Amino acid sequence: MVAGETGVVSGDVRDRALGLMQDLFAQLRQAGAPTVEPPYDDLVDVVEGIRSDVSKAAPHILVSWTVFDEPDEYEYVHSFDVAVFSVAIALAMGERTRILDIGLGALLHDVGMALVPVAPDASYREGEGLAPEDAKKMYAHPELGVKVLRQHPRISAFTKAIVAQHHERMDGTGYPRGLRGSDIHPYSRIVACADVYSSMLVRSHLDRHMMPGEVVDYMMSAAGFEFDKDVVRVMLGCVSPFPEGALVRLSTGELAVVARLSRGMVTRPVVRLVREEDGAQVETSTEIDLARPEHQTTLITAIE
Ligand SMILES: [Fe+2]
Ligand SMILES: [Fe+2]
Repeated sequence: MVAGETGVVSGDVRDRALGLMQDLFAQLRQAGAPTVEPPYDDLVDVVEGIRSDVSKAAPHILVSWTVFDEPDEYEYVHSFDVAVFSVAIALAMGERTRILDIGLGALLHDVGMALVPVAPDASYREGEGLAPEDAKKMYAHPELGVKVLRQHPRISAFTKAIVAQHHERMDGTGYPRGLRGSDIHPYSRIVACADVYSSMLVRSHLDRHMMPGEVVDYMMSAAGFEFDKDVVRVMLGCVSPFPEGALVRLSTGELAVVARLSRGMVTRPVVRLVREEDGAQVETSTEIDLARPEHQTTLITAIE
């Protein structure tokens, strides 16, 4: 389980979000049908907490994701992270009026997964490494999610559009409808980017199949194809792949703690060395600013 304060959003707001999402997923799994009413007022409170904490950081918004080690926790931790990323992106893009609809859609984007009978870790492997029959079952989750949202009369059409379209891609390669470009709602494009970025960061940590910086490279390479390029640009300016306080391994073999994030250079934070390459504890803690030219060949290879 995740613990302590991490980043911009207070630990209280995060813990409340995780608790609500965990309960909602559990109730839906038990019901086996989209008959559970989402706890609208509580979820709105949580999104309001995220909005308030993220706006305090404006205009220099910098958020990150929640490091966790149990694949079973993926769905609700990921839901929270996608909400934080989406609210940060929307605020950084100048959106003011519909932040609650966007945050709620982001928090609930994968709620339909609770009604899809696939293994818990299947959801962060979407597309890749999934048996074809599991992939097919999973393609139903956006529509199942909308059915869950219909259980509460106050959930808006914007929020429903986000849940329905979060797997649509700008180039028409998404699902369930294969929509393209401007047929995809701008809020859905925000959540689509936040969703993929969050799930790839989690995979890079749990499976070590790529370095966190490579996730950033992937998002950049898919901008303008799968994703709205303005959304990707704004997201990579305000959502860091490295949470402050995270223990990271450097390409030099040393271990360090992320001390401060650098706005505009989200892959190059300031780190504080804690262990040498041979495992010896460092005597005086040295800070290294990875954004400086002399450190440009040093990469963060993993979050420990
Ligand atoms: Fe999804
Ligand atoms: Fe997702």
